[in-house]
Amino acid sequence: MKIIAFAGSNSSVSINKMLATYAASLFEGADVEILDLNDYEAPLYGIDIENKIGQAEQAVQFLLKLKSADIFVLSLAENNGNYSVAFKNIIDWCSRIERDFFNKKPMLLMATSPGRGGGSLVLEIAKSNLPRFDSNVKAVFSLPSFEYNFNQETSTISNAELDSELKKAVKIVQEAAQN
Ligand SMILES: Cc1cc2nc3c(=O)[nH]c(=O)nc-3n(C[C@H](O)[C@H](O)[C@H](O)COP(=O)(O)O)c2cc1C
Repeated sequence: MKIIAFAGSNSSVSINKMLATYAASLFEGADVEILDLNDYEAPLYGIDIENKIGQAEQAVQFLLKLKSADIFVLSLAENNGNYSVAFKNIIDWCSRIERDFFNKKPMLLMATSPGRGGGSLVLEIAKSNLPRFDSNVKAVFSLPSFEYNFNQETSTISNAELDSELKKAVKIVQEAAQN
């Protein structure tokens, strides 16, 4: 089982990347690859630049990685209640090449933020928007108050209840991928 995990963030210290990395580590017997949107930084999407360059090479490379996945682990940063610019930009470029890039592979969809909302607004947007790209979200998990609930020294969730909730979500996604 190949897991492609990434954060919808371009922060070099992304808390969503930390959560995605931890969540991916909970899958049994999986081959995990963590992507970083900084490695696929395409120019800001616009029709003029698309007419000029055609397909952004970064999006082509990103799509190749997505194609290798049996399972997706995605944790979205919430910026003003919405996707980060980095995430929106790469999916806009990808959508101009092919629209079904999540390929119905089981997905664990997550978000975390420093606030008590835990990225709940971006999760609502993603739940209605990602199916456009053939997503197959099997479980959703939100980690509120990241600094309080995630131990950055051990890279694990410190709140036992939330940790158990995540582990249940991982199990659901893993079982969906095996069936
Ligand atoms: C422009 C901007 C807007 C933000 N808007 C929200 C928001 O709507 N809700 C929220 O919970 N956090 C918001 N935050 C805080 C982010 O959740 C925080 O920066 C978090 O670390 C982003 O995730 P990342 O570290 O994975 O990039 C915002 C931060 C920025 C810079």
